[in-house]
Amino acid sequence: MRSKIVAGNWKMNKNIAETEALLVELSAKLPDTTAEVMVAPAFVNLNAAVRHLESSAIEVIAQNMHFAESGAYTGEISADMLLSIGIDTVIIGHSERRAYFGETDEILAKKVTAALAKNMRVMFCFGEELEDRKSGNHFDVVESQLKNALFSLDAQQWRKIVLAYEPVWAIGTGETASPEQAQEMHAFIRKTIAEAYDNSIAKNVSILYGGSVKPANAAEIFSKPDVDGGLIGGAALVADDFVAIIKAI
Ligand code: 13P
Repeated sequence: MRSKIVAGNWKMNKNIAETEALLVELSAKLPDTTAEVMVAPAFVNLNAAVRHLESSAIEVIAQNMHFAESGAYTGEISADMLLSIGIDTVIIGHSERRAYFGETDEILAKKVTAALAKNMRVMFCFGEELEDRKSGNHFDVVESQLKNALFSLDAQQWRKIVLAYEPVWAIGTGETASPEQAQEMHAFIRKTIAEAYDNSIAKNVSILYGGSVKPANAAEIFSKPDVDGGLIGGAALVADDFVAIIKAI
């Protein structure tokens, strides 16, 4: 059975004091839920966040990692470093990493492999750009992003994968995919996985939607049968909004 997940990607926001303040407020307001709740603060604040949330149901996850074990990669963070502070879930493939930091499918495949080799859970992000959707190529683009980074994994490894479909045109723009567009793509993703593997992998993988999810639209998006939750950007930085989105699931 796949799990419901609401994850907050804080991106490059919040210093240490602001991180702690938001976690205090979130912990106090966290509603009862069967969904998994995750937050991804900036690297420098991860250790403090893990310690702060030690006895909380909220999981701290990382926004990125490098594929190498260790070595001369100035400015980078390894899987072992994350594991050593108690983090075992990592976001890989966010569209901002692809667009601003040149992360190709090939690099992302290496990162996924490296994380899985350490038994980490991977939240793999992908999604088409506006031009792809306008030209009707969105299904092809999504299929090739999945294929290039994930389709050499074996069935066992898929248990550690969470997918996050984030159409680039909906990220930080205030423009959300309609619940129907999200459902259509999520169903397509499941069908593509079923064809490449089998139905049980397709049925058991959680597929989150990301892109301008807000308290006002979350419930409708989450009500779609193939949408298992959300990866939230801007709204995750405001405790009341994030809490409202958790309640919506
Ligand atoms: P917004 O919710 O701000 O559109 O960001 C979505 C996102 O990129 C989450 O990873």
